[in-house]
Amino acid sequence: MDHITPDHDLPFEPYRVKVVERIHRVPREERERMLQAAEYNVFKIPSSAIYIDLLTDSGTSAMSDRQWAAMMTGDEAYAQSRSWDDFESTIQRITGYQHVIPCHQGRAAENLLFGSLVNETHVVPNNIHFDTTRANVEFRGAVALDCVCEEGLDPLDESPFKGNMSIEKLEAAFAKYGDRIPFVMLTITNNSGGGQPVSMANAKAVRAVCDDHGVALYLDCARFAENAWFIKRREAGQEQRTIEEIAREFFSYGNGCTMSAKKDALVNIGGFVALDSEETARGLAARLIIQEGFPTYGGLAGRDLAAVAEGLREVLDEEYLTYRIEQVQRIGARLDDHGVPYLRPAGGHAIYLDAKSMLPHIPPSQFPGVSYAAALYLDSGIRACEIGSLMFEHVDPDTGDMVSPEMELVRLAIPRRVYSHTQLDYVADACARVRDMGERLSGVEVVWQPAALRHFLCRLQPAGGGALINT
Ligand code: F0G
Repeated sequence: MDHITPDHDLPFEPYRVKVVERIHRVPREERERMLQAAEYNVFKIPSSAIYIDLLTDSGTSAMSDRQWAAMMTGDEAYAQSRSWDDFESTIQRITGYQHVIPCHQGRAAENLLFGSLVNETHVVPNNIHFDTTRANVEFRGAVALDCVCEEGLDPLDESPFKGNMSIEKLEAAFAKYGDRIPFVMLTITNNSGGGQPVSMANAKAVRAVCDDHGVALYLDCARFAENAWFIKRREAGQEQRTIEEIAREFFSYGNGCTMSAKKDALVNIGGFVALDSEETARGLAARLIIQEGFPTYGGLAGRDLAAVAEGLREVLDEEYLTYRIEQVQRIGARLDDHGVPYLRPAGGHAIYLDAKSMLPHIPPSQFPGVSYAAALYLDSGIRACEIGSLMFEHVDPDTGDMVSPEMELVRLAIPRRVYSHTQLDYVADACARVRDMGERLSGVEVVWQPAALRHFLCRLQPAGGGALINT
């Protein structure tokens, strides 16, 4: 392919802007008030007080003119709408799975699938479970087992496919748990491990292990197109293939998938399960009617289905993906200039700052990532998200002890087609300023937390009740 940025090395946008949304940076004193009122939990800060919002890449994409047009012509028939036909056939074509179950977002897909297939005797291996996936497994009394390759746990390792499942760990899980494993999952890209891709070869190898043990492989495919772009760029023999061909082959190693359309379908809401087993699909459809809606809309409006179908077609555009992922990589390059450490290499949808190494004086029990994210908001009005002990501390299934995850990260998730390079330069420069605060930053402690997924709702304060940033 021609290089698409002939004149300079900035990632080049393959579109022009048609609608804009005004943003404001509220003054520092107001940010201080907002952070205190939110009890140091950035999920609770009003969006009107956020300048650059990198909390998530989920449901935050800018939709295209074609998607908006599809919304206007969406068919709102209760059953068998035209928009459903487009949704179903597009998903069938891309994934190769014949049975499509629509639902309103990724965790609803997980709830449908796990509600049907997982019980309290089970152990579910994944490269790394995303937080809602882990919660959906644990909610059923089952064990969520992370089996990512060792490179995936080393923030400095530059390996190209750090999202890969460790085949050794997976075999060890089968040796230990045998038929307590109902199926295996593979998350592409591996969000909780840094947005790192899984190679085609690894998918094939995981599938072979599943075949040996007679279990299905499901893909958590929220970012399947970004994963395919990495395969095209990094895996030998894949360079000449289209993104769609790569994605299609990848899906062929699975028996089905759960999808949060809020990521790589470029929409604000939507999701689905797609799978090849008619029997499992029938069970899911029965649940769907109780939980989400009739099987041809599943909790979505016809216009939402139409926007997903169009988004899935658009996301396969290689020029878009090149722009998208190079934009993320460019933030990484600017952080390198500042010497700010992050999980390497840059992920597909996000940069994961290494809070553990920037704030070695704050122990995991005082959440260095939360402290860094709060300081980033105070400094610049930027909202980022901790992916560390607050999100992922959990009970060890063997010892019953609480264990912290290996890494304490702060994720800068980049919404698709939303922010300019200038705005993202501002972000990288702010990250360096917060890093420079060093030991002036104090840890935080939990004042109150709910039983599950505590990071969304918990109340926090600076450790010992002091200031977050000491002078
Ligand atoms: N699986 C992965 C890999 C995800 O990243 C997410 C969501 C889900 C499943 C659940 O999907 O939000 O539509 O219910 N990730 C978002 C994030 C929330 O910020 O990374 P959902």
